[in-house]
Amino acid sequence: MIDILEKTRLQFADLGVSTDQDVERLFNQLIALAETEQKKVLSEPEREEYRVRWLGRNDSVRARVKRNWLETAPKEMRRWVGTYFNTFSEQVETGFAYIKLAAEILEADTPIDLSLPGVTRPIGSHHLIRQVLQEIEDIFFSIGFSVVEGPEIETPYYNFEALNIPEFHPVRDDMDTFYLDLPKGAPTPLLLRTHTSPMQIRTMEKQKPPVRVIVPGKVYRRDNPDATHSFIFHQVEGLAVDSDITFCDFTGTIEYFVKQFFGPGVKTRFRPSYFPFTEPSVEFDVSCIFCGGSGTSAGGGTCSKCKGAGWIELFGAGMVDPAVYGFVNYDAKKVSGFAFGMGIDRLAMLKYQIDDIQVFFQNDVRFLRQFP
Ligand code: DAH
Repeated sequence: MIDILEKTRLQFADLGVSTDQDVERLFNQLIALAETEQKKVLSEPEREEYRVRWLGRNDSVRARVKRNWLETAPKEMRRWVGTYFNTFSEQVETGFAYIKLAAEILEADTPIDLSLPGVTRPIGSHHLIRQVLQEIEDIFFSIGFSVVEGPEIETPYYNFEALNIPEFHPVRDDMDTFYLDLPKGAPTPLLLRTHTSPMQIRTMEKQKPPVRVIVPGKVYRRDNPDATHSFIFHQVEGLAVDSDITFCDFTGTIEYFVKQFFGPGVKTRFRPSYFPFTEPSVEFDVSCIFCGGSGTSAGGGTCSKCKGAGWIELFGAGMVDPAVYGFVNYDAKKVSGFAFGMGIDRLAMLKYQIDDIQVFFQNDVRFLRQFP
């Protein structure tokens, strides 16, 4: 018996095909074979071979069927043969279109080579201010402080009055700030807090002694930007109030913090200062991180950072002024405590030797990447 492909080389007369059923059987065999072969096509060359073999112009199966079967069919059979020929032709073309489509999908979905390096998706890191804040928090956590946070929009009462800074007090000059535009008749003016100290009041209002908190956050002042000034910066407030807190507890805590933060080699000192909400008030200095306290730079000249003093001013602090307790209903005769307020930006600049505060707010990745 000759196979169906060989039969396409012969005419109906040679094949003994004379009925519609014979024609139908022939075409069905052809379609079945085309489908079987389709399933085996995988590669691009195989695809092309299939196309030429079944649909090509000259010696393809379809070309032969057309030439040998359709065109030579006796007149009375021709309609039938034509119909089957069209069906066969469409089937093979559709099958071929599917093969092409499947190949395209497969090619698009490139197999994964697990040995290739992956797509690097850059993940961010904490901003240096956040990193330094966490260092500060860790040190205070280790000696029993906890963290509280408060509003950046404050009332003059919390930002000034309750901190013993009445209206027209001269220190308000240093803390010029931004006031919010409020509708007429608003119960109180609102401002952007100039320091984290208002949280001393808010914390003591809510909580009876003992209190041991630090308060990190953003603060605002109407300052012209330069290397050490910005209209926004960061502070950490500290407050410890209990029945028997002494000046020694105060100095010991501060010294512990500074040595933990800058290293055991640094020296510390207090200078008398003034804040309305502390009495006595101090300004806290650390031996110059840059020249080691000598006041001379490595080249022999005057250290530009401490201007030859050997000391760098770090932050303000003091024992809580009894007047402040009056605003929060603490009994000034029974409690005592200390408070401090330090600039996170300033501490970060000293520790990491950054000489321009503006870089913290410019978000230049070349700077940020240096502190991964
Ligand atoms: N709030 C002060 C400022 O921003 C800093 C300060 C000084 C805070 C002394 C304190 C303190 O808690 O006791 O200038």
